[in-house]
Amino acid sequence: MDFNSTLTLESEPSRASLKTPVNKVYLETFGCQMNVSDSERVKTTLVAEGFEVVTSETAADVVLINTCSVREKAEQKLYHRIGRIRHARQSGRQPLVGVLGCVAQLEGDTLLAKPQRIDFVVGTRATGRIAEIVRKSLNARERRDGLVDLGERENEYEWAVAPAQRNSPYVAFLPIIEGCNKFCTYCIVPFSRGREESRPAAEIIKEIYRLKEQGIKEVHLIGQNVNSYRPRVGDGLDGYRGATPFVKLLRAAAATGIERIKFTTSFPRDFHKEIVSAIDEFENLCNWVHLPVQSGSDKVLRLMRRGHPVQNYLKHVAAIKASPRKISLTSDIIVGFPGETDEDFEATKRLVEECEYDGLYIFKYSPRPGTPAAAVTETLSEAVKQERFLELESLQRKIQQKVYERYQDRVLKVLAEKISSKTEEDLSGHSTCHKVVNFAAPVSQLGRMVEVRITTAKLNSLYGTMLN
Ligand code: 5AD
Ligand code: SF4
Repeated sequence: MDFNSTLTLESEPSRASLKTPVNKVYLETFGCQMNVSDSERVKTTLVAEGFEVVTSETAADVVLINTCSVREKAEQKLYHRIGRIRHARQSGRQPLVGVLGCVAQLEGDTLLAKPQRIDFVVGTRATGRIAEIVRKSLNARERRDGLVDLGERENEYEWAVAPAQRNSPYVAFLPIIEGCNKFCTYCIVPFSRGREESRPAAEIIKEIYRLKEQGIKEVHLIGQNVNSYRPRVGDGLDGYRGATPFVKLLRAAAATGIERIKFTTSFPRDFHKEIVSAIDEFENLCNWVHLPVQSGSDKVLRLMRRGHPVQNYLKHVAAIKASPRKISLTSDIIVGFPGETDEDFEATKRLVEECEYDGLYIFKYSPRPGTPAAAVTETLSEAVKQERFLELESLQRKIQQKVYERYQDRVLKVLAEKISSKTEEDLSGHSTCHKVVNFAAPVSQLGRMVEVRITTAKLNSLYGTMLN
């Protein structure tokens, strides 16, 4: 692994070869798939550099927290968590605490002054240098001079994840684009994750082949906005058809023959109908699209600077629903955005009814410091936000129950991912349309793709009988 030369002297022996006590690191992750994926890579780096990654904080010398700042609640979690870590170890040596991820990137060295005592801060693109920072912090622990690295990725950043550090032995997250250029007025991501940067297609395809060899069955191509995937010239996609680089990448990924490919998140303005054609064409491109709409009111969408009027969004929905693959559709909605009237909220409810989503993530608007929407003073009360949240949630519950009941008697292909958390006799996994499916089967089926006839539809999961 190659680190930034300012931090690592080339003649320095590898940590693994030194006979010093092994330092134990515990890593906790909040937030999105991108954070889960970054954490897998952080653990891979630390183990390669001679640290031991432990599953409990009790004996850890270093606690790392990979943070999310998309909503205020997510950020508050960080301070509570550190408070509890500090409180739990009142006798004996306190662990070093390092903050990673979006809160680290946004707050930088101001975190070092927090009463919870944070020892070092690592930004969203500096994770490749994590081992150096941890090591330096351990060496300097008595001096308590906190380290901060908010720098860019090194050119030789190692994207691969060691199989042992992957969250699932069968499913792998593969970042294809980082950051976001959209600047929706409520969103902190363009600030915390920076501008869009696409990974070269050749590298992505090589990694899919490698994952396939390692026994991975399902790859999730991830990014804040995968549809705007745009690698620099010489991208290795010349042989593939497609109106956009993302469509070409989907075709190239499908051609690797890996069992399943899923992708998130799609942004409506950049969603191209050829994405649906590619799904129709390749069975291993899964029949699930996550297409956040945020609001059903054109006025609110304009205030959010989303750039997709409702009608345009509905055209994409129509194309998705017209597919013979029975593509499932999920979305995100923010309620209580500043200026959202009762009529605007009614329009959102009508849109939700029309789209009949298979799943919906509903968020109460949370002002994020530094974003344009946070500067607006006439905001809605918490009570109104809560009321709209509950109303929309209850509407979606009714719709979802109906949508899930349509799966009764259908046969779904399910990847047996784990033993069910409810009963040891059942296995649990996801269908190609990304539904959680539980079914009775022996553990020998783990990691296999099985056919399940659906017998029971619950609100958020399906239950069925294995056929093969
Ligand atoms: N307040 C509430 N929800 C937000 N999201 C992003 N920013 C905010 C915010 N400031 C939601 C959006 C996005 C999802 C990941 O989080 O719905 O799609
Ligand atoms: Fe945030 Fe909008 Fe970018 Fe999504 S598309 S990450 S909501 S700025």
